[in-house]
Amino acid sequence: MTVRMSWDGRFSCEHYVYGEAPNAFLARHASLIPAGARVFVPGDGEGRNGVWLACQGLHVLSVDTSAVGLEKARRLAARHDVSIETEHADLTAWAWPEATFDAVVSIFLHLPPETAPFIHAAMLKALKPGGLLILQAFRPEQLGYTSGGPKDVSWLYTSAMLAIDFAKAEILLNVEEAVSLEEGPLHRGPAATIGLVARRR
Ligand SMILES: C[S@@+](CC[C@H](N)C(=O)[O-])C[C@H]1O[C@@H](n2cnc3c(N)ncnc32)[C@H](O)[C@@H]1O
Repeated sequence: MTVRMSWDGRFSCEHYVYGEAPNAFLARHASLIPAGARVFVPGDGEGRNGVWLACQGLHVLSVDTSAVGLEKARRLAARHDVSIETEHADLTAWAWPEATFDAVVSIFLHLPPETAPFIHAAMLKALKPGGLLILQAFRPEQLGYTSGGPKDVSWLYTSAMLAIDFAKAEILLNVEEAVSLEEGPLHRGPAATIGLVARRR
């Protein structure tokens, strides 16, 4: 029997398993986020993206189901002399706020197929009108690689799925990419990703 390691178990090490540098897709598109914005980072894990956004002068709320990850996120923030707000919660049972954030940044937050559309809709509603969503995830072709991601195809996203989940938004970019990841020991090598940039109407 295969026992899937919990996120707390995965993050219970000294190093940052996805690295300390921001995700490259986020860094490429972050200039679209207005100065001083309030940014929500669901599933921020060990905080590499939330902390980097805070270093850009943005106000960050990171929510994650891993207390161990969030503790590392706060330590990373302190090392960079910035602060981020953190909340330990399961996003499937979270009281999602509405029209609250200027941007939502979701990086490799994979969810079961019965949950993902609901969470994606909640992300959109959590944005103020005109707010920006930046999302990167793995697509089914990632199953052919060893650079990370869920091993169950139903947890992977296609551009068609994201077009449906975010149909109410203005889609600025919905692109399937072949990239080379260099994100700590767990995301390393060729990868099949999908990137979405969208704006709430
Ligand atoms: C692959 S990691 C990515 C972490 C981070 N976004 C990054 O790119 O470094 C996925 C993260 O999503 C979090 N996560 C998964 N399901 C969640 C849920 N239902 N509620 C909150 N966090 C969740 C995990 O705890 C983990 O930190």
